[in-house]
Parts: sequence; C-alpha cells; structure tokens
Amino acid sequence: MAALALIRTAGLTDADAVSALLRLSYSELLANSYDTGLLRVALPYMNKANLTLLVSGTYYVAETDRGIVVGCGGWTIEKPGSGEIVEGEAHIRHFAIHPEWTRRGIGTSILTRCIDEARSLGVRTLHCFSTLNAEPFYRAANFQTIRRIDVPMGQAIAFPAVLMQCQLA
Ligand SMILES: CC(C)(COP(=O)(O)OP(=O)(O)OC[C@H]1O[C@@H](n2cnc3c(N)ncnc32)[C@H](O)[C@@H]1OP(=O)(O)O)[C@@H](O)C(=O)NCCC(=O)NCCS
Repeated sequence: MAALALIRTAGLTDADAVSALLRLSYSELLANSYDTGLLRVALPYMNKANLTLLVSGTYYVAETDRGIVVGCGGWTIEKPGSGEIVEGEAHIRHFAIHPEWTRRGIGTSILTRCIDEARSLGVRTLHCFSTLNAEPFYRAANFQTIRRIDVPMGQAIAFPAVLMQCQLA
C-alpha cells in the first residue's frame, strides 16, 4: 500500500482529484448519518471542488507517495455562503478523507495546519459547519458544539449539520 507523502497547498490542477475525493468520501462516510434520499439530492451540491477555495492559498491536499490525493481541507476568512468577513473570525472548509485512509491522523494534520496558520494571522475564533458524522472529529481537535443547524442547498434542501467553534487565543 502507498504511504502518505505530504500535505501541500492545493492549486487549480487538483480540481479533478479533489472532486473525485469529495464524491467518494461524502457518499461512503456520510451514509450512516444521513437518510439515503437526502444524500441523493444533496450530494450533487457538495461533490464539486470549489475553485475559489483551490486557489485561496489556504486549502490543502494530502498526497501519497504515488501522487494520489487522499485528503483535503482548508479555511477562509469569508463565511461560506454569504462571503461575510468578521474581524478575528475564520471558517473551516470542505474537509474530506478517502474512506480507505481514515483514522490515520490525516484529517487532524490538515486541521492543525489550518489552525496554526489562522492563529498566526490573527484569527481568534474558527467556525465550522460540521457534518453530523464529523462532530467527534472536530471535538477531538477542541472544537465545541454550538447548535444543530440546517444548511440550505439549492431551492428546497435543508441539510442537517452542526455549528461548531474553536477559540484560538
Ligand atoms: C471527518 C473526517 C475528515 C476525519 O478524518 P480522519 O483523517 O479520519 O480523522 P483523524 O484520523 O485525524 O481522527 C482524529 C480523531 O478524531 C476522532 N474521529 C475521527 N473520525 C471519527 C469517527 N468516524 N468517529 C468517532 N471519532 C472520530 C477520533 O478521536 C480520532 O482519533 P483516534 O482515531 O485516535 O480515535 C473523515 O472521516 C471524513 O472525511 N469524513 C467524511 C467527510 C466529512 O464529513 N467531512 C467533514 C465536513 S465538515
């Protein structure tokens, strides 16, 4: 089996690999936490790499020694959806790990990089719209659950999620 080689800043050339990873990771790893019918309509909104994130300089991929992308995730100062910016705050974005590479610390490595970088740039509070299945992962990284929320997708979908927060000070 391949070994993990590095975590590096993503770029536009990672678009196809990140889209494929999001598709695989979300469809397999969300299946125990969400209704099948909901996933069928919601996943098309979640399965595509966000090109703005890819070129943001604060989005990362984990790559094996064979050049396969098995993890992704990042952060932005813009709030997802509205684009709102609040001084001292930032947002965790689009984390996904390949189902065959979970529980090896890859998610934590990318998250730690995001936290360290955000803190060094003056961010004091990191927010996250966590999937229901990912709540224990963020809790393990000192995020606190604020409340359950519904994330709107398209005209008619309310996707259940968890608003979480981490104080970096
Ligand atoms: C959530 C996710 C990113 C975690 O990535 P990962 O690389 O497997 O996480 P790590 O190996 O760094 O886990 C660190 C700790 O988080 C907790 N954790 C992670 N996944 C967990 C799970 N499925 N159930 C319970 N605890 C979990 C554990 O405490 C774990 O430490 P341990 O393995 O020593 O017990 C991954 O499962 C995933 O991609 N899920 C599908 C996509 C998704 O929901 N993304 C989040 C979008 S907001």
